[in-house]
Amino acid sequence: MPGARSDGEEYGDVYPLEVQWRRPRRVTAADLRPRIAVLPGDGIGPEIGAAATALLRSLGDFEITELSIGGASIDEHGTALTDEVLTACRGSDAVLLCAVGGPKWDTTDPDAPRPEQGLLGLRKGLGLYANLRPVRPSPALLDASPLKRDRIEGTDLLVVRELTGGIYFGDSGRDGDRAHDDCAYSVGEIERIARAAFAAARRRGGKPPRLTSVDKANVLETSRLWRETVVRVAGEYEDVELDHLLVDSAAMQLVSRPAEFDVIVTENLFGDILSDEAAMLTGSLGMLPSASLGDGGPALFEPVHGSAPDIAGQGIANPLATFLSVALMLRHGVERDADADRVEAAVDAVLERGLRTPDLGGGSLPVGTREMTGAVLEELR
Ligand code: NAD
Ligand code: IPM
Ligand code: MN
Repeated sequence: MPGARSDGEEYGDVYPLEVQWRRPRRVTAADLRPRIAVLPGDGIGPEIGAAATALLRSLGDFEITELSIGGASIDEHGTALTDEVLTACRGSDAVLLCAVGGPKWDTTDPDAPRPEQGLLGLRKGLGLYANLRPVRPSPALLDASPLKRDRIEGTDLLVVRELTGGIYFGDSGRDGDRAHDDCAYSVGEIERIARAAFAAARRRGGKPPRLTSVDKANVLETSRLWRETVVRVAGEYEDVELDHLLVDSAAMQLVSRPAEFDVIVTENLFGDILSDEAAMLTGSLGMLPSASLGDGGPALFEPVHGSAPDIAGQGIANPLATFLSVALMLRHGVERDADADRVEAAVDAVLERGLRTPDLGGGSLPVGTREMTGAVLEELR
């Protein structure tokens, strides 16, 4: 979402927001050249970051600033996210993060800085509590999934993951030979993510719109508060059909009947795990994009996958999850819906032509990151 800007001339009211729970804003002339912060990070991050920058440049005039995060930032500054980088992200119109982490920084020392702290700090620092992970297998990839085509055909679901609460941000620590990670949620945190999910279900226009809330209410107190709160918020969205699943059963049903889901809303840790599982419906983790949104200020767009250390530097990383994240940025971040549609169509088209990075299982035209990127840019010309 472009932030409030005073340096541009206003030229009109913005049309109704795609993301309905965010505050309305006015478009300024400065928005004609959106400021995008690109954070390449680690592992395959710089490879797919370069591809995404090329994609953005091919689409128009963006002011792109590359910033350090994760392990790269630890090496440079001793911390995974500097105040300067967080401030620069706050001052941009949208942020694209590629990937952080890797064996170089993996340690069990609780006092050592970790690359992942950079990403968590960015999400928290920008107030991005709603993480949208759309799962829509490209038609050309229906046979690339380890699941049978007849199970995944028709799948078009959205995971709405709570992103700034729960066990990720609770008190944690070590005390002698014990360690703890506390999971806590407040009613306010659950209400706002529930509203985001109901609004998303409404916007997707299912007939009727459906929302599945996933929790572990048979065991966890936070989940009982979650369920109680979601049920109460449902009163504001009577047109949306609500049901509840326990997370273990949800994990099973995601692969046994994925096409029957519409929107899934769940807490931070469950959303992390279920979305990697759901990625396989699309054929590869290298296909799944995400948007992390808050109530104003810039949003963050990030592929769901990590830094893939096992293939880093080989030129074979699949850039498509990042391209689809750029599409989400164009739609939810800088209000360029037509360009977002074009990028998504270009991705489908190159897959239709048979281009496949190795993670997609070969195919008629095996390619690396460069060729895949070139083909998408060609489609957009
Ligand atoms: P991963 O997602 O990096 O990789 C899992 C598997 O998927 C690997 O075999 C990898 O090669 C493959 N893969 C992932 N993305 C791919 C792509 N674009 N193209 C082709 N293959 C791809 O998960 P991991 O190995 O568990 O984690 C590696 C590091 O990444 C860890 O440090 C972890 O903390 C970090 N991580 C970062 C993010 C992020 O930055 N958003 C997300 C998840 C994991
Ligand atoms: C994700 C990642 C992150 C998460 C890690 C890298 C902190 O796995 O975005 O899914 O757990 O949220
Ligand atoms: Mn994850």
